[in-house]
Amino acid sequence: RFICQSTRTEKSKTRNLMDNASNLLTNFLSGGSLGSMPTAEGAVSDLFGRPLFFSLYDWFLEHGSVYKLAFGPKAFVVVSDPIVARHILRENAFSYDKGVLAEILEPIMGKGLIPADVDTWKQRRRVIAPGFHALYLEAMVRVFTDCTERTMLKFEKLLEDAHVQGTIELDLEAEFSSLALDIIGLGVFNYDFGSITKESPVIKAVYGTLFEAEHRSTFYIPYWKFPLASWIVPRQRKFQYDLKVINDCLDRLIKNAKETRQETDVEKLQQRDYLNLKDASLLRFFVDMRGADVDDRQLRDDLMTMLIAGHETTAAVLTWSIFLLAQNPSKMKKAQAEIDAVIAKGRITFDCIKSLEYIRLIVVESLRLYPQPPLLIRRTLKSDKLPGGHMGETDGYQIPKGTDIFISVYNLHRSPYFWDKPDEFEPERFLVPKKSEGIEGWDGFDPSRSPGALYPNEIISDFAFLPFGGGPRKCVGDQFAVMESTIALAMLLQKFDVELKGSPDSVELVTGATIHTKNGLWCKLRKRADVK
Ligand code: HEM
Repeated sequence: RFICQSTRTEKSKTRNLMDNASNLLTNFLSGGSLGSMPTAEGAVSDLFGRPLFFSLYDWFLEHGSVYKLAFGPKAFVVVSDPIVARHILRENAFSYDKGVLAEILEPIMGKGLIPADVDTWKQRRRVIAPGFHALYLEAMVRVFTDCTERTMLKFEKLLEDAHVQGTIELDLEAEFSSLALDIIGLGVFNYDFGSITKESPVIKAVYGTLFEAEHRSTFYIPYWKFPLASWIVPRQRKFQYDLKVINDCLDRLIKNAKETRQETDVEKLQQRDYLNLKDASLLRFFVDMRGADVDDRQLRDDLMTMLIAGHETTAAVLTWSIFLLAQNPSKMKKAQAEIDAVIAKGRITFDCIKSLEYIRLIVVESLRLYPQPPLLIRRTLKSDKLPGGHMGETDGYQIPKGTDIFISVYNLHRSPYFWDKPDEFEPERFLVPKKSEGIEGWDGFDPSRSPGALYPNEIISDFAFLPFGGGPRKCVGDQFAVMESTIALAMLLQKFDVELKGSPDSVELVTGATIHTKNGLWCKLRKRADVK
């Protein structure tokens, strides 16, 4: 404690040196721990018996909003506090990188935005974020509606052929996964996977790669880094093969985009005549705006990152929205009433999305209960002082360089300190302000803080609600995702009533990068009888 105090008076380099020395000493004295932080001892069964985020929640209630999780020699700091999350994600964001997550994802995404180190990220974010401008999003509405229409036609055809008249049974999670893959392929690089109706080697390779990414994110020994593992271990050989199939496909698309670059398209881009572009994809934007000098390798990493980041997450939000609505028929009816009032039997347009407020709230409430991903991962690049927790139980903790951190979005989103009835599905909750109730340093929840926002976000909730993260590394695809999910959900509910096939308890959760079901979301679909 004395050493920590005195280092604060030192300057720059000396301060860093002293900081490190102090951390080493503090760690040594506390047997390698993080000072006086409460400690949860993880057992191996916590890793395999059930999703880890459930155990993290129980320990949060037991040990408080900042605790250390020790698995043998390995330790993580688990954060479930908005003030501490705000500090790590926004106020001191550049003192952290993606740590374990980057190690897992780098072989797949290379130097793409998600795993990128701080310097690469600073360069690439500047190039990528402008791609998601308002006219691009408007042009995407057509992609969202066309792809969802294809899915709805498939369901209608299945209903026509059904043995039991009027009802079909479907794994909606699988259907949403195909839909989200088709949308992301067209939106990011104008490639139609067509996965709603067919299987192809590229689709198989994408699923194989996602499967491996998920396996790696739950496997704590990075055996794939051992020399020759990619040749000796069969699943690693398959993974290398899948990666090659996708990379070859992306390389072909990049080459094609460069070869077909036309000045007229560039003019349309510059004049913002977006809706008349045949190909409004992000790849087209990056190549057209930056010409031939764009680096192929970096571009490929960016496309691969967005393919993975934008696919499973959106499929998951649709899956859990339906899971929750199916258990709340009155809310499903309320959603359908909104859809009937806003679009009747017509098609959804860009302007409709603003009016589909209840559907958007369903999407974010489903992200509150099932955040994708449930944990945000960081590692300190230099020692840092975390602020005190919301209950004022400490005045904060000094953490050394190299500390691995889980920000538990799941805990934040279900925290009894910030939400009334935290486990209940209540989309209407986002319309009602909530005072901070004496929680020092937290500004409470106030929808008016971000007027015109497409969805209640981290600003409105002062970091108690992080559906798309927060700070500089917040999701670039947030609006894309909210619009896509709103449209897909609205078009499904416009035509169909949905019921779970079994009991809600029979839908088991598993988790990797996202929370999904163990055996699919099996539902009964029938045409709406009450449609006007
Ligand atoms: C980052 C969630 C859809 C691209 C993130 C982060 C979250 C998130 C929480 C922050 C990660 C962190 O701080 O460690 C979601 C959810 C989605 C979604 C819940 C769907 C419901 C998309 C889509 C795209 C996308 C559609 C692209 C088309 C990205 C990228 C990053 C990111 C590139 C990294 C940003 C950076 O580090 O600068 N996403 N995302 N996401 N997301 Fe999304």
